[in-house]
Amino acid sequence: MNNQTIESLIETAMQARKMAYVPYSNFAVGAALLDGKGDIHAGCNIENAAFTPGICAERTAVSVAVSKGVRNFTAIAVVGGAVNNQPAEDCFPCGVCRQVLMEFCPPSFQIIIAQSPQNYRIFTLSELLPHGFGPDNLSN
Ligand code: THU
Repeated sequence: MNNQTIESLIETAMQARKMAYVPYSNFAVGAALLDGKGDIHAGCNIENAAFTPGICAERTAVSVAVSKGVRNFTAIAVVGGAVNNQPAEDCFPCGVCRQVLMEFCPPSFQIIIAQSPQNYRIFTLSELLPHGFGPDNLSN
């Protein structure tokens, strides 16, 4: 992934974050998922008065892409923090999102944890979900 791709992913995640519906946590997250063709699928977190139905930005992005028939991904950028503020912390995907990424992404899948296009760190899925359980465990 070149610097320009990383920057576009982070900027797309920052734009998506502005759409976050977070009246309960006031913690807004945006995600931008890069597919194998170079297209980007964005998502934000969407909370709910009943709490449990709330969905994270990463899973929104996966749902958007899979609903368009896309299942092949190479990277995701995640930007999160207190709503209406510039991100001032690293926002790592929750355990459920790591598991959902495991369903569609290879161990080398890149997870960009960003506060801005100039301030980010990159991890692989296998670093954030070592020894995960995935589709390969059920193929027999
Ligand atoms: N959240 C995400 O959308 N992604 C993450 O990586 C961490 C947490 C959301 C869930 C909830 O709406 C809010 O942030 C606070 O947990």
